[in-house]
Amino acid sequence: MYVWKNEYSVKISKIDEQHKKLFETFSILSSQMTKTSSKRDLDKAINQCKRAVLDHFKDEEKILKKCKYKDFDEHKEEHKKFAKKIKRRLKEFKYSNHTSEDVLEIYSFLNDWLVDHIMDTDHKYIDDVKEFHDC
Ligand SMILES: [Fe+2]
Ligand SMILES: [Fe+2]
Repeated sequence: MYVWKNEYSVKISKIDEQHKKLFETFSILSSQMTKTSSKRDLDKAINQCKRAVLDHFKDEEKILKKCKYKDFDEHKEEHKKFAKKIKRRLKEFKYSNHTSEDVLEIYSFLNDWLVDHIMDTDHKYIDDVKEFHDC
């Protein structure tokens, strides 16, 4: 089970809230694994996860731009790369058999990415934007 932890904080409450929300959205997938869900429900849940990630990227980029984050372009590029990857994985899932293993795989993929991205990439902007709590 993946959940938000204090060490994930980027010291900007709006973004922390969104990261928490992403873990919650991804957890829909784990609840789908325990019951018999239709392919349609699973595809819907997966799309919901994709939407949440893409919306978060947009909001985070807005804040980083407003705060004149020096590595904004690189950060945006990381988001772009992952957006491409997530779309590819979701497409693959759509054509899979939607077994519990398939769901577990995409669930772990999303959560592992989120933890890595927060800890490696998002954490880099903490010092730069910490004076801009209102961003
Ligand atoms: Fe990010
Ligand atoms: Fe983020």
